[in-house]
Amino acid sequence: MFRELATDRLRLRRLERADAARLFAYRSLPEVTRFQTWEPRDEAEVARFIEGLEGIEPGEPGRWFQLGITLADGGELAGDCGLHVPEGRDHEMEVGITLAPAFQGRGYATEALGALLTYAFGPLGKHRVYGSVDPANLPSIRLMERAGMRREAHFRNSLWFKGAWADDVIYAMLDEEWGPRGPSEV
Ligand SMILES: CC(C)(COP(=O)(O)OP(=O)(O)OC[C@H]1O[C@@H](n2cnc3c(N)ncnc32)[C@H](O)[C@@H]1OP(=O)(O)O)[C@@H](O)C(=O)NCCC(=O)NCCS
Repeated sequence: MFRELATDRLRLRRLERADAARLFAYRSLPEVTRFQTWEPRDEAEVARFIEGLEGIEPGEPGRWFQLGITLADGGELAGDCGLHVPEGRDHEMEVGITLAPAFQGRGYATEALGALLTYAFGPLGKHRVYGSVDPANLPSIRLMERAGMRREAHFRNSLWFKGAWADDVIYAMLDEEWGPRGPSEV
């Protein structure tokens, strides 16, 4: 059973019903939703989303599993991160990170992504971790490059996104490229 992931400064834990208001507050900001498909309309939608995660374990194929990010010493939700094992491709995991604007620019996303890579290649035994990003999403591209992920592909106008075709850039890392470093599962 998943409990949480810990880094020097962060906890990655299951989302709770009480997180709904906070999650909605930053997940509904235009600067946060710009490159995201999920645009929750209200807190109730976020609450339903969180309830839908109950009883699900990260790594269950075919669906996204979302974890909350808080600072190690507690406080409000700083962000969230998603893990997705594609159906029929059990050896892979897709990841994505979102931080509330007040928590950006301090290396927290880099630390959280490091925790996800360690978790994916360690306890989950994944062979490949990847992220899909719009080439205009420069903070996200810098994040994946800082984490040591390689730019593997640039698909032109491959996604229908918010009423227009959009490019999709893929960053990835293999288990053999990930050293035994970073955070531990507690
Ligand atoms: C993607 C996202 C999580 C990146 O957040 P971020 O704050 O830029 O990334 P980090 O938390 O790792 O912080 C790194 C930045 O802080 C700086 N920084 C300050 N202290 C730092 C530290 N101790 N360690 C590392 N970086 C630090 C870095 O220089 C870097 O800034 P730069 O990119 O301008 O060079 C954020 O932009 C976001 O939530 N975007 C909206 C959601 C989204 O589009 N997600 C991606 C979907 S694919």
